[in-house]
Amino acid sequence: MAYTLAFLSGDGGVGKTTLCAALGARLAAAGRKALVIDCCAGFRRLDMALGMESRVLFDAADAASGVCGSARAVARDSTRTLPDLLAAPFDADVHPDEDLWARMLSELKARYDWIAFDAPAGTGVWPMLPARLADRAYIVLTPDDGSMRCAGRVLDKLRAEGHDRAQPPSLVVNKSDLALIEENLQYPPDVVARTLDARVAGVVPEDGSLRLAYARASLDGLDPRSTTVMELDALARRTMGAPVPKGWELARPGSTRSRLRLPWAGKPSLKEVWT
Ligand SMILES: Nc1ncnc2c1ncn2[C@@H]1O[C@H](COP(=O)(O)OP(=O)(O)OP(=O)(O)O)[C@@H](O)[C@H]1O
Ligand SMILES: [Mg+2]
Repeated sequence: MAYTLAFLSGDGGVGKTTLCAALGARLAAAGRKALVIDCCAGFRRLDMALGMESRVLFDAADAASGVCGSARAVARDSTRTLPDLLAAPFDADVHPDEDLWARMLSELKARYDWIAFDAPAGTGVWPMLPARLADRAYIVLTPDDGSMRCAGRVLDKLRAEGHDRAQPPSLVVNKSDLALIEENLQYPPDVVARTLDARVAGVVPEDGSLRLAYARASLDGLDPRSTTVMELDALARRTMGAPVPKGWELARPGSTRSRLRLPWAGKPSLKEVWT
């Protein structure tokens, strides 16, 4: 039975689509049955990030509303190490029926190990749909004042709706840059966790090769020895509930242990984190 995640954010462009696609590719490469569902209705992008746009015949709204079965609506690329994909509907004006989506999701959960929703930024109808359906919400942010304030608004909304009760939302800090942290233009993960009173589930560095892989739709071709991929793998393991190696633990709010140094700056044992 799949574990389900929703990648949300306050401000746009923080890396939800990139992380959703790259994590899906890492899980697919590890032999897990992974599915990503694009909820950016009207602004489909995840299919392009995966280089799968020519494989899309139906979309998630078709599957939810019964235009076709959910198995038929899923796009697959068996020639590459990619997750399966349900594309976003192009019409954002037709609001999703939460009950129909929940029924579709329960069908899909039986066929996958891991399902992630890529949501649009903000707290509108479309981002709140996966937030309500998924087991856990991951709020992606960059570690600066503006993005943290926006992430805080999403957290407030989720908490107001009671989403924090079973599995509290976690933060994924993206585009973390040591030079900017040293210049006091970005915050280290422990400060982000404390400020927003939420767990940090992962910290992904600012990485030109990730940007390039996204632009080239080759996120399944990332260097497996790179720090970025190790962080992605540690995050993927956490999302599957698997243990992560020592030194890669989560930053927790209220932690007494200072994590002013980032895991990859503190030279942890860079052994393979995927088993
Ligand atoms: N860790 C990273 N290092 C460098 N560039 C990154 C990183 N993560 C994402 N990017 C780049 O940031 C840009 C925005 O990423 P992406 O489209 O994934 O953001 P998003 O949150 O999905 O945006 P939107 O809110 O518009 O849906 C892309 O060019 C992507 O390649
Ligand atoms: Mg996106």
